[in-house]
Amino acid sequence: MGVAAVLPSGRQLSQKMLKPLSLLPESDPAQQRVIELGAGTGAFTRALIEHGLHCANLLVVERDASLHGLLRQRFPDLQLIQADACALRTAAQASGYLLGGPADAVISGLGLLSMPRATQRSILNEAFSVLRPGGCFVQFTYGHASPVSRALREELGLQVRRAGLAWRNAPPASVFVYQRAFTAAHTFSPPDATQ
Ligand SMILES: C[S@@+](CC[C@H](N)C(=O)[O-])C[C@H]1O[C@@H](n2cnc3c(N)ncnc32)[C@H](O)[C@@H]1O
Repeated sequence: MGVAAVLPSGRQLSQKMLKPLSLLPESDPAQQRVIELGAGTGAFTRALIEHGLHCANLLVVERDASLHGLLRQRFPDLQLIQADACALRTAAQASGYLLGGPADAVISGLGLLSMPRATQRSILNEAFSVLRPGGCFVQFTYGHASPVSRALREELGLQVRRAGLAWRNAPPASVFVYQRAFTAAHTFSPPDATQ
């Protein structure tokens, strides 16, 4: 089912994943719009709710059917879709989430490092197509290096910074934040409500 983690992410990693949200232009958690990719058993989902995100502003994406069912039981009030992150824009559009505007952040629990470059490219392009200009893509990885190579970052126009190390996590994990230099070509275009 494409699960790259040994254990569900721990509390320290969940907190480190959410830290970049405090640096967003919209700093009020109740107003922040977030999409979570690869929610698994819901470690980051729970942290996002505890952080103060409003259910209407959170879209949770999980591809695996059984994990999607588990998440549905654990978080009955959430906007939760079973979808592939490689087709995020279409799935988010079909869910109605984008009618509320673009996302401020994408929190990724995907095992991006173990994915082929073409899949990484697809997921990042989809994510930035639903993010507002200046929005950020937050990704954890085991180890110290960015899971997105310099070559792919340059191709996609992404800047990266390391946002933290969750050393108590098993295994220890680093958090990286990716942002795209703003250009007109990268402006969020709202979905056509007639489609
Ligand atoms: C490494 S696990 C992380 C789970 C959880 N976020 C955590 O940190 O404990 C990755 C999760 O991403 C899901 N996943 C993998 N590829 C996906 C894809 N292309 N689209 C959506 N979800 C995917 C897996 O089913 C799994 O639940």
